[in-house]
Amino acid sequence: MTNMYIRCFSGFRGTGCRQLRMASGSMPTCLRRSSFSTFSPSNSSVVESRTGPAQIPVDFIFSDKERDHLKSSLLKVTDSPYSAYPRFEEQIDHLLATGAVADRFQKLCETKRGIDSYHDPYFLIKNCPIDDNLPHLSFQTPVADKRTLKKTFVSEGFLLLYAKLMRQEPIGYLNFNDGDIFHDVHPMQRMAKTQSQKGLDTVRFHKDLPNHFVRPDWVNLLGLRADPANRILTCFVNNKDLLASLPAETKTVLRQEAFHTPYDEMTVSSGNKKLGDAPSHRVLGGGATEYEIRFFEGRTVGLTDRARRAVDDVVAALHRLKRPLLILRGDFIGLANNECLHNKEVVRIGNADAQRSRWLMKTVNVRSLGDHGRHMVEGQVRTVNG
Ligand SMILES: [Fe+2]
Repeated sequence: MTNMYIRCFSGFRGTGCRQLRMASGSMPTCLRRSSFSTFSPSNSSVVESRTGPAQIPVDFIFSDKERDHLKSSLLKVTDSPYSAYPRFEEQIDHLLATGAVADRFQKLCETKRGIDSYHDPYFLIKNCPIDDNLPHLSFQTPVADKRTLKKTFVSEGFLLLYAKLMRQEPIGYLNFNDGDIFHDVHPMQRMAKTQSQKGLDTVRFHKDLPNHFVRPDWVNLLGLRADPANRILTCFVNNKDLLASLPAETKTVLRQEAFHTPYDEMTVSSGNKKLGDAPSHRVLGGGATEYEIRFFEGRTVGLTDRARRAVDDVVAALHRLKRPLLILRGDFIGLANNECLHNKEVVRIGNADAQRSRWLMKTVNVRSLGDHGRHMVEGQVRTVNG
């Protein structure tokens, strides 16, 4: 990691004013949040910038030493999470119990667990351990290629360690990559034009699985391969900010069962379990919380004139409020799925080949497996039957 300067400005989330110089192996002892621009022209290094509403603050940066220590531990994991998940999980549990994870990271996770995600739905981490030798996944069959070619499980291990430290339970869906717990945001030719994790171009604002009967509480993304020549951003809007910006009348309409969102295209394209037509729904409330927003830009439609106008209001506000992040190799962001919306925004392509091999690994996690037990595949604890 190159030297970098991070400046926090007073008045931002009460962190006060401070400036930290960070270099390889030299990390801040303070666990308060820092903020820097991840929206720079090249983003090949961190740039000093004023904190503003358009930035997601960085919570933690692994030192190179911490990253390498954790990576060498994760490289010892031999059981594949794709063919032997229970044994893989046992190995991760063993690592946690034997001190593989830096103490200061564990403490920060403990702190973050106590934070109200309505006010702060993000956990942004830099310089995470990932596999040294990432296989190339073809545009035609990326999921099958991964299962065959990926021989180390550092990224999967990190995502599971994080879930455990944050008391989250990763789940799979029968209709998503045949129930795999670890997903890939990676283009696939057959689904390149879809609004899904396998799409090639922009995926519009949404929460993950907005109208599925098992909606994840968290979505966690880890950057494995991304060429900074391509400006492919992930943008975020907090529910809190969105609701503050909408007129009361719009919010009243959003609470009515006057909207329809088709099931997501991954679910529909899978032959594993047919779900039929999705029911009409409210956009606001009626889900996990009174402020939950069930919405997919361009797919959620209003069933009345007022509802259609409310959809337009939501879309306009999302694009006014969005906070962009360029996720590169080793960057991680965890987001509370019921407290924010996100998208994938293709702004500029400098390397078309790299666009087809951009790869973020992802898990979708819930608070409790028991809460969703009736929806699981018989005999499985974490694979949703749908
Ligand atoms: Fe998503």
